[in-house]
Amino acid sequence: MNLVVIGTGYVGLVTGVGFASLGNKVSFVDLDEEKVSKLNNKEVPFYEPGLEEHFQNGGTFSRMSFTTSYDDIDWDRTDVAFICVQTPNNLATNSVDTKFLESALTEINNVNNSKIVVTVKSTIPPYEIEKVCKKVGMDKNEITFNPEFLREGTAIEDFFKPDRIVIGGNDPEKLSVLKELYKSFDVELIETDPISSQLIKYLANTYLPLRLSFVNEAARLIDYSKGNQQDVLKGVGLDSRIGLHYFRPSPAWGGSCFPKDLIEVNNFYKTGEVALPLISNIIESNDIQSTWTVEKLTSILNEENINSVLLIGAAFKEDTDDLRNSPTLDIYKMLEQKDFKTYIYDEMVELDEYNSLENLEDISEKMLVVLMYPVKKTLMDKIQTIKEKTKSILYTPW
Ligand SMILES: NC(=O)c1ccc[n+]([C@@H]2O[C@H](COP(=O)([O-])OP(=O)(O)OC[C@H]3O[C@@H](n4cnc5c(N)ncnc54)[C@H](O)[C@@H]3O)[C@@H](O)[C@H]2O)c1
Repeated sequence: MNLVVIGTGYVGLVTGVGFASLGNKVSFVDLDEEKVSKLNNKEVPFYEPGLEEHFQNGGTFSRMSFTTSYDDIDWDRTDVAFICVQTPNNLATNSVDTKFLESALTEINNVNNSKIVVTVKSTIPPYEIEKVCKKVGMDKNEITFNPEFLREGTAIEDFFKPDRIVIGGNDPEKLSVLKELYKSFDVELIETDPISSQLIKYLANTYLPLRLSFVNEAARLIDYSKGNQQDVLKGVGLDSRIGLHYFRPSPAWGGSCFPKDLIEVNNFYKTGEVALPLISNIIESNDIQSTWTVEKLTSILNEENINSVLLIGAAFKEDTDDLRNSPTLDIYKMLEQKDFKTYIYDEMVELDEYNSLENLEDISEKMLVVLMYPVKKTLMDKIQTIKEKTKSILYTPW
């Protein structure tokens, strides 16, 4: 098929490269000139394991094109246009910022081809789409939804082997084009209405941080009770109804999606109309976890008479260079405010505004070394060497 992908971020680029490697022709459009120029020079603008290899593949690359102008797209031959623009939280109104989506839909609305299946991959409540459609003069029933569930760090694997595919819409003909596009994927496809398709996305992104917050609260309780964290969590997680997967304590959770999607879920209802006490407190539980982590580190620093802390891992989780809502950056600031000499080390990320260490080998003083998430064995070996050389203390939250 001939596809257009609007937005070449994590979702757009992975989706487009994935479909191009399956033989489709993919035209990407992004307003960010630097990104598009990199892509045209065969450079991937961010780190995602496996993406570079697929992107550089000669056959795949020859089926892709990149532009900053909607006028360069051959709209007459386009079957599906995937909208993959960002939908951040607008801090002023504490609700989703739809301006990127509005600008993309305005462009598509100018195209004279009603056969194009306009598919929103961005995470956005359907009632917000309705408002945007009204504003740009588009029929909301023309829009289909295909929420994205990829995890940064394993996004390529998630594209080729998703847990499920969800499509939502009111036009059976348009949905059948999406089913055709996905027909080679050996996985359950859920076809539903627009609201339900987005609720699947939002509730998945509610349950996951809920689970992470549960395990963090469990870790706080175990610490307070002077229990053995590993034994307790293993004992709980081995219950087959609970499971050990995705059941690891952390300094706090973050990322580009969970925080903003949770805020939006809380915007779905007016207090008093539907009682959701659990869901409405997940963010607060996570805020408490960052503060608790800083208090925990402070007590270790004081007990051990150390003044320097090294946080290993700048991104919000392993195998990505995405710094959006990274707990490391929040915890760094809180430690600095307490006058601890604080450093960050990350093999993949350059940090200009932070005290970052280029080489672990440069460490000569005793430090508190904090692993923000598990690291590869080669890095762990280096950390162990430094730890022994400087008599540093290692802290891992899990
Ligand atoms: N990142 C994830 O792990 C993930 C996972 C699932 C769903 N999502 C959702 O997918 C959407 C995209 O997320 P992302 O992380 O890929 O975002 P991103 O910020 O990495 O990329 C968005 C891209 O869209 C471009 N853009 C903005 N307005 C445009 C316009 N009018 N025309 C063309 N290009 C435009 C931007 O320049 C940017 O390159 C969001 O709604 C997000 O919630 C993200």
